Amino acid sequence: MALRLEKIEKSKISGVDFSNLKFGEVFTDHMFECDFENGAWQTPKIRPYQPLTFDPSAKVFHYGQAVFEGMKAYKDAHNDIWLFRPDQNQKRINISAERLDMPAFPKEYFFEGLNTLLKLDSDWVQKGEGLALYVRPFIIATENCVNASSSNKYKFMIICSPVQSYFAGDVRVVFADKYSRAANGGVGFAKAAGNYAASFYPTKLAANEGYQQVVWTDAASHEFLEEAGTMNVFFRVNDTLLTAPTSDRILDGVTRKSVIQVAEDEGINVEVRDVRVSEIVEAARKGELLEMFGAGTAVVINPVLGFSHQDESFELPNVENSYAALIKKRITDIQRNLAEDKFGWRLKVE
Ligand SMILES: Cc1ncc(COP(=O)(O)O)c(C=O)c1O
Repeated sequence: MALRLEKIEKSKISGVDFSNLKFGEVFTDHMFECDFENGAWQTPKIRPYQPLTFDPSAKVFHYGQAVFEGMKAYKDAHNDIWLFRPDQNQKRINISAERLDMPAFPKEYFFEGLNTLLKLDSDWVQKGEGLALYVRPFIIATENCVNASSSNKYKFMIICSPVQSYFAGDVRVVFADKYSRAANGGVGFAKAAGNYAASFYPTKLAANEGYQQVVWTDAASHEFLEEAGTMNVFFRVNDTLLTAPTSDRILDGVTRKSVIQVAEDEGINVEVRDVRVSEIVEAARKGELLEMFGAGTAVVINPVLGFSHQDESFELPNVENSYAALIKKRITDIQRNLAEDKFGWRLKVE
């Protein structure tokens, strides 16, 4: 694959305080970019990270034809860099793209671009607990035309942002009973930009009440628990772990499927089935709801301390032998090359 490479003259890394990073605010020296024109992806290039220039009529600004991905790279004690299940992100961006009527980005281009970029910016992948490089591939519609129809031009990009141990703080959630994130036949399963835009307002309303996240319920009845802002959700009732099946409303999370596999490997009973709001409320009343947690790339596993539903609020107990803690450790040890890669999930950047 021909890849055009333009390197920076001087790295900006010395000006970055890696001990004081806010998530997603600082970007590395280079970016990967490939344009789709005349029905084909053109020669990809890597060039210094910089602003882009677009015509105000570019379709992405008007119709939100945009999809993205999120993954992380980790550096181990030997300075090797590892990605966690990147094949899943590569497949998923094309699943999202298809639903938004955008062209698939070729797998060879994706991995060649990703590897070259990570090798070039390898100093930005810092070693140590919690430190990682967040990798953001995305595709946007770039045709200059405000006709409400699919674009005939697109741009695929990968940008990278160093991140540090992400402590989300205490998280309490609201079970949605008015607003919805996704509907049957809609785009909930896609990582489409508009899904996130639509979730911000209800999330702000929840924040005004002191809750950090909304757990979305099914749009038709609000009776079934689906997923949180950027995480799939798990419930531990006694010693059983429950999570909703993926559907056209729910993102097929990489962390979610890894949690299920690790939990089963630990001998934990996992039930992937519709989870009723009423059964979780009932379990909480009886003291049988022992844990609730979100699973997603940014935090891996984020324990939830309490939730509210309609006018009631509940606090979760402090459990010993937390499933969340056990599963998080097993996954992060695999991600950072601190444990055997039993499931073949790591990919070395070389
Ligand atoms: C809506 C939504 N659900 C779930 C997830 C978790 O997916 P993953 O584990 O692949 O990061 C994400 C984040 O990517 C998300 O945006």
